[in-house]
Amino acid sequence: MTTRLLLTPDVARVVRHDGIAPSFQMLARYIAEDYVRWSDFDKSARVANHSDDGVIELMPISDASLYSFKYVNGHPKNHRVGLPTVMAFGVLADVATGTPRLLSELTLSTALRTAATSALAAQHLARPGSRTMALIGNGAQSEFQALAFHHLLGISEIRLFDVDLAATDKLVRHLSDVEGLTLVRCRDAAEAACGADIVTTVTADKRNATIVTPDMIEPGMHVNGVGGDCPGKTELHREVLARANVFVEYEPQSRIEGDVQQMPADFPVTEFWRVLRGEAAGRRSDDEVTVFDSVGFALEDFATLRWLGDRAEALGLGRELALVPAMDDPKDLFGELESTSGEAADAAAEADGMTAAQAATRIPAGLRAALLNCVPHRKDAWTTPPSSRKSAAALEAPAT
Ligand SMILES: NC(=O)c1ccc[n+]([C@@H]2O[C@H](COP(=O)([O-])OP(=O)(O)OC[C@H]3O[C@@H](n4cnc5c(N)ncnc54)[C@H](O)[C@@H]3O)[C@@H](O)[C@H]2O)c1
Repeated sequence: MTTRLLLTPDVARVVRHDGIAPSFQMLARYIAEDYVRWSDFDKSARVANHSDDGVIELMPISDASLYSFKYVNGHPKNHRVGLPTVMAFGVLADVATGTPRLLSELTLSTALRTAATSALAAQHLARPGSRTMALIGNGAQSEFQALAFHHLLGISEIRLFDVDLAATDKLVRHLSDVEGLTLVRCRDAAEAACGADIVTTVTADKRNATIVTPDMIEPGMHVNGVGGDCPGKTELHREVLARANVFVEYEPQSRIEGDVQQMPADFPVTEFWRVLRGEAAGRRSDDEVTVFDSVGFALEDFATLRWLGDRAEALGLGRELALVPAMDDPKDLFGELESTSGEAADAAAEADGMTAAQAATRIPAGLRAALLNCVPHRKDAWTTPPSSRKSAAALEAPAT
């Protein structure tokens, strides 16, 4: 029984093998498949631990057969110390036994799934025939948003703005060769939004920012708000929400974390799964302003882990890990402590005058005594680093 480990290069290989457009299509299909069976899931708002400069969150969810969680952070100042704002990993496990089946990176995968979810929502909420999108915030998530909207919605012009010119330079460098996509650099968010069918905000700032103000809104616009995803971290002026038809992922979580945290508790919102199931209307007219107030929901990561697991298996990617010990007697966990494998045990066996064959079947007496009595067996028999060896030596020193 092993757990498949997928690292970022493995996820990159999946996307390179399948192609970026088919990857977004496939991922959006997995996400939609899971959203339409909404009632199958045991759901909860994510658990967030906040600090002055960021947040660390756990996002669990399960259906009758699979459980997943994602660990994800959000630290907008991280770039100052050379780290990404968002870093993530996650697990997919069997519900029947609790066995972890897949342990995967989710940093790159979160960018893919967020963009796939945004584009999926826009397919139902943006005006049909939308061609122009403003992309405000050109950081780590931005190219993924641009490509998902280009490939899944046919967006052909993207109007860019970021307070950091270097971030926009990076995006232009990556995407200038995309066929059928024109990139336009803008001086500010208002210029970017002017004439756009869709406005995507994907900025990172731990405060109530007003990236999109009411004067920027034109009839029929769709606003894809991605960066407002924490208490006290919003992007849309409350009047933008007040005048729009607002859609969220999971209402209990979005009321706390989304841009709608600024609105009264009875401000009307529609959960997006209801639109996908045909139980609620999406866009109702060409003039209506729609907002997808995205915060990222565990179900999207569950679907992403399913997609990654399936593609990794099909392509033979990843590495099998013995993350959980394989035991002849599952009740004999203590036997794992006495395991005779490893350098420490080899050295201990040698000290006890045992052969390798004897050592393989019986824990050396010296090592057992050391283990049970909290004393080192022999200071040179431990595989600990020199600093710990010093403390082991100190333990052996005669009392003065
Ligand atoms: N909704 C979701 O599911 C989801 C998923 C992933 C990330 N996010 C959020 O998306 C945001 C962006 O993530 P990222 O990984 O791209 O972060 P990032 O730090 O790499 O990029 C954010 C960019 O926003 C720019 N910015 C900040 N304030 C701005 C402003 N006032 N106007 C224009 N640009 C501004 C920054 O200069 C930076 O380039 C974060 O807030 C993150 O928490 C949401």
